[in-house]
Amino acid sequence: MKHIVSGIQPTGSLNLGTYLGSIKNFVKLQDTYTDHHFLLFIADLHAITIPREKAFLRKTIKELSALYLAAGLKKERLSLFIQSEIEAHSQMAYLLQCFTYMGELERMTQFKEKAQKQEKGVTAGLFTYPSLMAGDILLYDAEYVPVGDDQKQHLELTRDLAERVNNRFDDFFTVPKPLIPEVGARIMSLTEPNKKMSKSDENVKSRILLLDDENIIRKRIMSAVTDSDQTIRFDKENKPGISNLMTIMSAITNQSIETIEASYKDATYQTFKQSVADVVVNELAPIKARYNALINSKELDAFLDEGAEYARKIAMKKVMKFNHKIGLGRKRK
Ligand code: TYM
Repeated sequence: MKHIVSGIQPTGSLNLGTYLGSIKNFVKLQDTYTDHHFLLFIADLHAITIPREKAFLRKTIKELSALYLAAGLKKERLSLFIQSEIEAHSQMAYLLQCFTYMGELERMTQFKEKAQKQEKGVTAGLFTYPSLMAGDILLYDAEYVPVGDDQKQHLELTRDLAERVNNRFDDFFTVPKPLIPEVGARIMSLTEPNKKMSKSDENVKSRILLLDDENIIRKRIMSAVTDSDQTIRFDKENKPGISNLMTIMSAITNQSIETIEASYKDATYQTFKQSVADVVVNELAPIKARYNALINSKELDAFLDEGAEYARKIAMKKVMKFNHKIGLGRKRK
C-alpha cells in the first residue's frame, strides 16, 4: 500500500493557517490520491522539544485528534494516531540522528527562530527535531508528505537523509516528495501580514482559532490589517493584508484568485471583509458542531486505537529492519 504521511504538533489550539495549510489540504488530497492510505498523526514528541505543561499537552493532544476527524477526513483509507504511542518513532529518530550532520541541523531556519525565543535554554531535542521528523516519514516509506510552506526545509533534509542511507544500504527508504498546496501554504497573521499566522504569536488578534466563537471570527477579520488603497487586488508584496484575505477565501471556496478579483472589482474593503468573514464562519460552524459531538466520544478513542495498531505494525517492522541493515544486534541464522 502506498502511503501519504503528515503530522501536526499539539502546541496550541488549531488556527486557520494550520487548518488551511494542512488539514483542509488532506481532505482534498483524500479525493485525489484514491490509491493511497493516509497516515496522519499528532506530533506530540515534537511538542516537548520546547518545555510544556502536562495538562496543556493532554488537552491539546485530545483537541487536535477530534479536530482532525471533525474537519471532514474520511475514515476509509485513514489511520489517525498519536506519535508517542508508536515507540518506533523515538527509535528511528535516534538512528537517523546518527546519519544527520550537525551543520545540517544548524542551518534549519525553524531551529534558529525557535532557539532565539527560548529564555531558559535550548533543548537538544529542539536541535535534533528534523531527524525525528525524517523518521516519522521514512518509517512508513511515505511517497508524499503534504505540508505547508514552512516545512519545506525539513522535507529537503528528510530527502537528503533517505538518499544518504540509500547510497550506503541499497535503497532502503522511499525518498518522499512534498505536497505543498498551491493556495493556502502560507496563511499570514491578521495583524502583521508579513508574518506567518502562528499558534505561538503573542497577539491573539493575529489568528483565528478553529473553535473561536462566530463573533470573534468576524471581529478578527473585520479588523485585519490592510492597506489604504481600497482596491481588491492580489499583490503579496505591496498589499499583503488584502492578498492574505483573498488567499483565505480562495483556499476555502476553491475559487481562483482571478475569480475573486473579478467578483469584488467594485467592492469596498468593508464589503469584501464581510464576505471573507461569512466564508470562514460557514466553513468552521459544521467543524465545531462535529468536534463537540466527538471530543468525549468512545468513537474517537476507538479510531485512535485502530490507527495506532495499523501504524505500529509497519513502523516496528521498518525500524527493526533498519537496525539489522546497519549491523546492530545479532545476525539471525
Ligand atoms: P506544525 O504543527 O507547525 O504545523 C502543521 C502543518 O500546518 C502547516 N502550517 C501552515 N500552513 C499555512 N499557513 C500557516 N500559517 C501555517 N502554519 C502551519 C505546516 O506547514 C504543517 O504542514 N514539524 C511539523 C509537524 C510534523 C510533520 C512530521 C509534518 C512532525 N512530523 C512529518 C509532516 C511529516 C510541524 O511542526 O508542523
